[in-house]
Amino acid sequence: MDRDDMQVLQYRVAEAGQSHLLRFWEELDVAEQQELYTDLKGMDLEEVGQAFQRAMTGSGHLPGQENVDARMEPVPREILGSTTRDQAHLPAWEEEGLLQISQNKVAVLLLAGGQGSRLGVSYPKGMYDVGLPSHKTLFQIQAERILKLQQLAEKQHGRKCVIPWYIMTSGRTMEATKMFFLKHRHFGLKKENVIFFQQGMLPAMDFDGKVLLEGKGKISMAPDGNGGLYRALGVHRIVEDMEQRGIGSIHVYCVDNILVKVADPRFIGFCVQKGADCGAKVVEKTNPTEPVGVVCRVDGIYQVVEYSEISLATAQKRSPDGRLLFNAGNIANHYFTMEFLRDIVNVYEPQLKHHVAQKKIPYIDVATGKPVKPDKPNGIKMEKFVFDIFQFAKKFVVYEVLREDEFSPLKNADSQNGKDNPTTARHALMSLHHCWVLNAGGHFVDENGTCLPAIPRLKDANDLPIQCEISPLVSYGGEGLEEFVKDKEFHAPLIIDRNGVHQLVKNGM
Ligand code: UTP
Repeated sequence: MDRDDMQVLQYRVAEAGQSHLLRFWEELDVAEQQELYTDLKGMDLEEVGQAFQRAMTGSGHLPGQENVDARMEPVPREILGSTTRDQAHLPAWEEEGLLQISQNKVAVLLLAGGQGSRLGVSYPKGMYDVGLPSHKTLFQIQAERILKLQQLAEKQHGRKCVIPWYIMTSGRTMEATKMFFLKHRHFGLKKENVIFFQQGMLPAMDFDGKVLLEGKGKISMAPDGNGGLYRALGVHRIVEDMEQRGIGSIHVYCVDNILVKVADPRFIGFCVQKGADCGAKVVEKTNPTEPVGVVCRVDGIYQVVEYSEISLATAQKRSPDGRLLFNAGNIANHYFTMEFLRDIVNVYEPQLKHHVAQKKIPYIDVATGKPVKPDKPNGIKMEKFVFDIFQFAKKFVVYEVLREDEFSPLKNADSQNGKDNPTTARHALMSLHHCWVLNAGGHFVDENGTCLPAIPRLKDANDLPIQCEISPLVSYGGEGLEEFVKDKEFHAPLIIDRNGVHQLVKNGM
């Protein structure tokens, strides 16, 4: 960078009201100066300022989001499919989904760019081992589900097929994620079918719109939210890659749900048969105060309304069948057609507003040059949300599944609180697999040979589930287990993997 370059930069930074970012310039060494120069040069400070203004005026949600209660309508039954209420249709939906997969028309898209700050590990969340008997990480579990599903579709339709896996990372997670996949040889998937791309980052700002410095020569940056997906898909030409592969349906999901049914053929089949361009998988919200966003219509437009946006009275409303009226709990598990995704990326993405999250953001005080670790929120991070595109759907559908079968997110560390942590994730998976064994005709006995009761769910936090883990390479959703377990008695722990049934039998055997 020469003198002129520097002058241009100083001018741009001043124009944007961010001159403080160069406050420590003279104290930086040449490498640090070059880095800061490159970061600032690559950043559209004017756009950042506009995003800040737009995000701060209004809730960052759809226009007129205030007093949303009066304008909310629940999801109508016509657009709803349910694994419990529509059991008769499940085989046809599954058949359709497997057909689509066998024709190489289905892709999965993983959102893995988050910082995982609540879990508090320094590496990407997908690399986390929740302590299952196999010690598989979330990435491995998901990769093996893809492998198994390819096999199931191949078996059903007699042709080889591929489910490409698109993985969105961020500046914070890209390198570590890629290295992890390389180290584990992509968990048996073909390297060319696992496609990494990186979402954008935005600077953190104080409440006056001043960009915060993380170090004297370093801007505080954070990923631009899981809705940063749509911009990243355009920037990295991922839509083109999908089109070249002939993809018709895309399943989008979050890395932290240990029970996620990646490319769930029933969900895909349901959306395809309904002619939907956009679909959301939900679980029933049963407790009015549960902090989960609900899928509903506001002024006739589908969207997710956050729990913080509605009153308790609205959250408590019940329909005649006794369920909560607004019970479609969003679990960030979506279906898009290729055409819909293309339109979002090419046409609608710029219309999406950033949401504002107030955070405690460590920063360098420009007056003193000292680092500050705030104990209350001192600034904002701006994020787009993956579900903000429902409003553009021509035909939107909702698919309701059982929480205990499909949703157990890993958000917090074990030490923090009793919810959504490694222990609850591990227990959820083992409880589900215990159920699968029972449904396939096996059962567990205790050390005296007495049959254990066939109600495996946990009744209180101190109950431990039976240690039971079934490899996704053996069963995707509980199918095909009879040959291993029917009419057999097991002692826990029980592990079923590609090499067969393993268990610790008493007397050291
Ligand atoms: P969360 O909002 O739970 O964030 O992400 P997080 O990063 O996992 O955890 P905290 O809030 O820092 O503790 C839900 C999903 O969206 C992805 C995450 O990787 C996760 O799969 N995500 C989030 C992104 O891909 N990019 C983002 O910018 C934010």
